Amino acid sequence: MTTSKTYRIAAIAGDGIGREVTPAAISVLDAAAALVGFRFEWQHFPWGSQHYLDHGRMMPHNALERLRPFDAILFGAVGDPRIQDNVTLNGLLLPIRRGFDQYACVRPAVLYPGVRSPLAGRQGGDIDFVVIRENTEGEYAQIGGGLYQDTAYEVAMQTATFTRHGTERVIRFAFDLARRRNRKRLVTSVTKSNAQGYSMAFWDRVFAAVAREYPDVRTESLLVDAACMDLVRRPTDFDVMVASNLFGDILTDLSAAITGSLGLAPSANLNPARTAPSLFEPVHGSAPDIVGKGIANPLATMLAGAMMLEFLGEADAAARLDRAVRAVLADGRALTPDLGGSGTTRGVTDAVLTAVTSSDRRH
Ligand SMILES: NC(=O)c1ccc[n+]([C@@H]2O[C@H](COP(=O)([O-])OP(=O)(O)OC[C@H]3O[C@@H](n4cnc5c(N)ncnc54)[C@H](O)[C@@H]3O)[C@@H](O)[C@H]2O)c1
Repeated sequence: MTTSKTYRIAAIAGDGIGREVTPAAISVLDAAAALVGFRFEWQHFPWGSQHYLDHGRMMPHNALERLRPFDAILFGAVGDPRIQDNVTLNGLLLPIRRGFDQYACVRPAVLYPGVRSPLAGRQGGDIDFVVIRENTEGEYAQIGGGLYQDTAYEVAMQTATFTRHGTERVIRFAFDLARRRNRKRLVTSVTKSNAQGYSMAFWDRVFAAVAREYPDVRTESLLVDAACMDLVRRPTDFDVMVASNLFGDILTDLSAAITGSLGLAPSANLNPARTAPSLFEPVHGSAPDIVGKGIANPLATMLAGAMMLEFLGEADAAARLDRAVRAVLADGRALTPDLGGSGTTRGVTDAVLTAVTSSDRRH
């Protein structure tokens, strides 16, 4: 077997369980690559909250410059109880998403066979949709300010920013994905345009205009509160959902919950034009409540790794890893406590490694 092709990947394990699930994902990615005949060259960047405590910054000044040459970034999690969350998030993850124009955050929500949904009557295979979250502007644009701090007259202002360029491209990405998936060919736009008459009404207009370019794709528009109810009441109806930064963020914790566990939900922060590296990560955070116990579920990060393989054009390796994760879930014996098992991070990783290799023997 030749191992000619090499992908250079920046690994930022970050904080908390990020440091437990990232090495686990790397080991299965290496195994899948070796079977297909390519390899990864990993460079580890020890950035995150400890870096902040030591140096006063979550990552160095020239971090983006150092990351730019890589083919992709695999990210664990950020967040530390000793530091305010807005400092950690704004110091690491958000500058990378914005700086590398990773405007499409792709978050699949799949209820896998073998996984129990908290929703009554939903079986593995019933739920399969993707949320596309706008990732570079909207409510997370960090425009705002304050006055009269710590007085009775204190004022805080945070401005949501929606540009035509930013809105149009993420909506178009959602329509293109609905075509590529070729399932229900349905795009659901989620806003709050009844209350937010400028930004969200603008989003609605852009959505309607882009929709006209895709006559073969059906559309639906929901207010975010109704969308939350519908994710619980009728999750099987969805195909591709598209939403702003904040609404997409919230919807995807809900979609992770209805498909079994946050420990299973992957996320890709894509720069579709490929002018800078894309970033792949689990949806979950640093989970301080379970850090160090060896029970963090590594499957979300592994599935994020499968999304990375797909984006790199390694569809065969991606499919092998996806099949291996499905096999481990269906088997059920290795699962971690978040999925109702008594397994460990190490045990799940070993099971996926075995499944990746045995899938090779069957093909
Ligand atoms: N993208 C990110 O890095 C990201 C995302 C969300 C939260 N955060 C940060 O993470 C920290 C903790 O936030 P939180 O508790 O709200 O969210 P969280 O996702 O870290 O944890 C929520 C709950 O889910 C459980 N959980 C999460 N991932 C799991 C896994 N892989 N296996 C098993 N159980 C898992 C946790 O134990 C916890 O009970 C905060 O500092 C927050 O800012 C970071």
